[in-house]
Amino acid sequence: MESIININIEQKRISPLLDLVSEIKKLKKELNAVILAHYYQESEIQDLADFIGDSLQLSQEAEKTDADVIVFAGVHFMAETAKILNPNKQVLLPDLKAGCSLAEGCPAELLEKFKSRYPGHILISYINCTAAVKAISDIICTSSNAVKIVNQIPKDQGIIFAPDRNLGRYVIKMSGRDMVLWQGACIVHETFSDRKITRLKIENPLALLIAHPECEEPILQKADYVGSTSGLLNFVTTSESNEFIVATEPGIIHQMELRNPGKKFIPAPPESGCSCNECPYMKLNTLEKLYLCMRDRKPEIDLEEELRKRALAPLKRMLEMSR
Ligand code: 13P
Ligand code: SF4
Repeated sequence: MESIININIEQKRISPLLDLVSEIKKLKKELNAVILAHYYQESEIQDLADFIGDSLQLSQEAEKTDADVIVFAGVHFMAETAKILNPNKQVLLPDLKAGCSLAEGCPAELLEKFKSRYPGHILISYINCTAAVKAISDIICTSSNAVKIVNQIPKDQGIIFAPDRNLGRYVIKMSGRDMVLWQGACIVHETFSDRKITRLKIENPLALLIAHPECEEPILQKADYVGSTSGLLNFVTTSESNEFIVATEPGIIHQMELRNPGKKFIPAPPESGCSCNECPYMKLNTLEKLYLCMRDRKPEIDLEEELRKRALAPLKRMLEMSR
């Protein structure tokens, strides 16, 4: 509450006449900063970014950047990953409250207890988790490399997969491997209505259904393509079809439309009449907060060195296994 009030007070100090886009561009040069943005950010932030990508591409970009400051237009676990990879760079996040339901639903202490029930198993964690969870994991994965990584694990090795049960089930199906699943879920991807999507398919018979693997099984089963955000973007760009029902956070439709003028993208609807198919965490970042964090060089991601080093090992393993 207190920090919301602080942000409002600070925002009031910004003149409504200030051209935020050119101020941000100016600050980028002054700070020698790079702006990394996820596809779920609002379109005006995407338009300003130096690089837009999915979680894997963003961490690969963070690993190789030579900027002094990384401004992360995404959620906390993404910025934290950039800090794990770049201890000597300043990593700024426009709003520290930009979390993730998957990360919040999987505290490291509870996961550790869960893990102790399966001796001899390795722990593969989806990148949507805290640094503390990464630190007790053997390998990290993202939605774009999860199947590839699991396929590289010896067949007789037991695996615990955390925290997303839907991605976990999808990986089990694609790899044919049995895995123990932590029962976490994304509040956004579990909101899509199977009934409304089925109706949309009937009303738009030419439209292909594309879905992120964080969606529930009935939606994944009827999808024409399942993939990470960059996978979905690539699919609609290379597909000969002209209409798509998009079962992921609708922020990505901005890039789909930019790269595919003339094609039609229908956001998959949530069950209720809310706009809860938008990620409330991603949408905490605004152009104003992006400007303020660069102007004030805060909020900043800070990580205890011991924890950072332990979280780095499984992340590096992932980066090597995805080359
Ligand atoms: P991607 O890695 O596919 O972009 O997914 C990130 C995410 O948070 C999906 O909800
Ligand atoms: Fe987390 Fe879901 Fe938001 Fe992605 S869309 S950041 S998984 S809450």
